[in-house]
Amino acid sequence: MADVTAEEEAQVFLSVAGSEAMTPLSQARIPVLDRGFIFGDGVYEVVPAYRRVPFRLNQHLARLSRSLNAIGIVNPYDIDGWKARIAQLIAGSANDDQLVYMQVTRGVAKRAHAFPLGIQPTVFMMTNPLVLPSAAQHAGGVVVVTAIDNRWLRCDIKSVSLLGNVLMAENAAANDATETVMFRDGFLTEASSSNVWVVKGGTLYAPPKDEKILEGIRYGLIAELAQRIGIALSVRKIAREEVESADELMLSSATKEILPVTIIDKKKVGDGKPGPVYRKLFAAYQEAKAESFAAGTQGNPR
Ligand code: PDD
Repeated sequence: MADVTAEEEAQVFLSVAGSEAMTPLSQARIPVLDRGFIFGDGVYEVVPAYRRVPFRLNQHLARLSRSLNAIGIVNPYDIDGWKARIAQLIAGSANDDQLVYMQVTRGVAKRAHAFPLGIQPTVFMMTNPLVLPSAAQHAGGVVVVTAIDNRWLRCDIKSVSLLGNVLMAENAAANDATETVMFRDGFLTEASSSNVWVVKGGTLYAPPKDEKILEGIRYGLIAELAQRIGIALSVRKIAREEVESADELMLSSATKEILPVTIIDKKKVGDGKPGPVYRKLFAAYQEAKAESFAAGTQGNPR
């Protein structure tokens, strides 16, 4: 047998039918009748932790709770319960900067579409090293392609049923692009695993928070940062032509933070270089991380 890698040895958290354990990734098992496996019947969160302090954890836990409510799964833990388990997972990892993955599925039951009665949710959590975009990606910007958004109409739920997003991500990869930016009825929605930001004439534009997009935790954060540093933000429907003629485009997500886009469908965005609004927001984002770390070390993560 090949040697077990460090990743396989990493401790993960698993709770099946109410029985909780920390176990090495290579030994974690779920029953094949788990509804997450059979139906994609579950929700998830992805939380970055900087220097072991989870960033915007309260907001991530609030979104998890909204996703669970939306699909009728009772939240298995209260806020403190989640925080304690996440802290345990983070403490057990050798990495300072981590990406915590949490998933809750409806649980294990005989296969039948409607909700089974009397089952307990399955909870899985793991942490991996946080890999941020490279300096070259920040300096030069990244490439995106576009597609019609053909996903379902509850994109506000952070569902593990990600086939639509997987196909969009594969479309990006097949075109040597970082992301596929999507449009529904001619208006911008989001990208396969990021929110999209548009800059025109110094104003920042974002599509409305509705059922057509996931409200990224960075969506709220960037809105706050824009206000803090005096960048006007307009939340409204954004037509495809406005995206194509933008001065700047940006992506945001837990793993991308804020990333400039300089090529869309083989054409330059603005002058083809990352712009001033991106630079200001990126700097403000780095400050917010430092503040979160400072607050977190006083036992008060934000
Ligand atoms: N994805 N929209 C979609 C479809 C996403 O999958 C994500 C994040 C976002 C940005 O949300 P946030 O700012 O909370 O990361 C928007 C995560 C990182 C993922 O699935 O891995």
